[in-house]
Amino acid sequence: MDSVVEDSFKREELHKEAFGKDFKWGVSTAAYQIEGAHQADGKGASIWDHFTGIKGKILNNHNGNNACDFYNRYHSDLNLMRELHIPNFRFSLSWSRILPQGVGQINYKGVDYYQRIIDHCLENNIEPWVTLYHWDLPLALEQKGGWANRDVVSWFEEYAQLCADKFGDRVRNWMVLNEPMVFVGAGYFLGKHAPGRRGIKSFLSATHHAALCQAAGGRILKASLPHAKVGTTFSCSHLEPYRDLERDKKATLRVDAILNRLFLEPALGLGYPFQEVKSLKRITDFFKAGDEDLLPFDFDFIGVQNYTREVVKYSLFTPFIQASLVPANKRKVVHTAMNWEVYPEAIYHMLHKFQAYPKVKKIIITENGAAFPDVLINGNVQDSQRLQYLQQYLKQILRAKQEGVKVDGYFVWTFTDNFEWAEGYNPRFGLVYVDFETQERYVKASGQWYSNFLKQ
Ligand code: BGC
Repeated sequence: MDSVVEDSFKREELHKEAFGKDFKWGVSTAAYQIEGAHQADGKGASIWDHFTGIKGKILNNHNGNNACDFYNRYHSDLNLMRELHIPNFRFSLSWSRILPQGVGQINYKGVDYYQRIIDHCLENNIEPWVTLYHWDLPLALEQKGGWANRDVVSWFEEYAQLCADKFGDRVRNWMVLNEPMVFVGAGYFLGKHAPGRRGIKSFLSATHHAALCQAAGGRILKASLPHAKVGTTFSCSHLEPYRDLERDKKATLRVDAILNRLFLEPALGLGYPFQEVKSLKRITDFFKAGDEDLLPFDFDFIGVQNYTREVVKYSLFTPFIQASLVPANKRKVVHTAMNWEVYPEAIYHMLHKFQAYPKVKKIIITENGAAFPDVLINGNVQDSQRLQYLQQYLKQILRAKQEGVKVDGYFVWTFTDNFEWAEGYNPRFGLVYVDFETQERYVKASGQWYSNFLKQ
């Protein structure tokens, strides 16, 4: 065993058994971030294929055209996953690979590709966990208004039904959406992610339609696959006020409503958190009669995705929310290459926060991980910061579990280094290092540690 890995075992004394024998351990990925092959075998363009082609949108003008070439290398990548003893694999389906125009004509080669992945997982005793939507809307649908068009609900229903029909015989664990707050916030309000739209109107309409799709997708999967476990995932950050001032505390509550509650609470039948953010009321402009009854869905599990803590400050000039986040480097705290504070207690607090909703039945940590500037030396990456990050966060998850939180799984973001959206290939989140020139894979010390931990 590698000395970094060995030392950390001694130091941390983290035991897999303590999490219970039914705890699900895995890794998470997303189609656009790993697959590449952006035009192969009849795939239609997605909003990310388009957005990355616009100069200046992505750091270094990187794109996911080739990414990790998982499309052609899934065999060897899944074999590596098996060799590393990783028993659960979360990945997403690319909507435009299956339905190139988003609706209508099916691309059977795309369907076949996902059939092969699922089969290869099962042959290797790897359980597939499928996310229907991880941000790559078919471009043809964006051209008709995308998430801001109410028709997205019926487009999404058609896609969800097709996925249930084609893959439901072998996939037992499903997630409807990946982090709706991020794809709506960054894609339709800030313009930093595809499709690059800005403004409150597109944000509110896209929010409402995504919340409707979240529930509609859940209903379709459950009706077609009554024995499947159906969940959906949420991004979340533990929040604290910057100063002990009433205006910072109130700003923190507003940010909490938007970042942590906006999509969860409608799903639980609690509606949108209007109380804290008055301007959110304008979302009702996009309501149709009966929408209140369409927003809730009784998910089997909630996917919690937490990376950090955010510190919130009142800010008069920030429209809509009058609050801003104080960046980690400005606070001079330990942070990752994303400038996200390393704050393991964040995940502990978020678990308790989600558990406090009586209708949340079960929680799975569907993403957690960290980007650090990895260096490959003689085929090795001694990523001790990532290794410590994972161990410290896991300890906090265990702490919450031992206090009675119903958390039943943990998926590392991510398996191999991949395309990190607006940041291109710069931030490396993987347990496995990828040389993007040669597509060679090198297991990092953190990957080795996770593997040994899982073998325990
Ligand atoms: C997303 C991933 C992303 C990761 C790190 C999550 O918000 O689901 O796609 O790569 O965080 O930024």
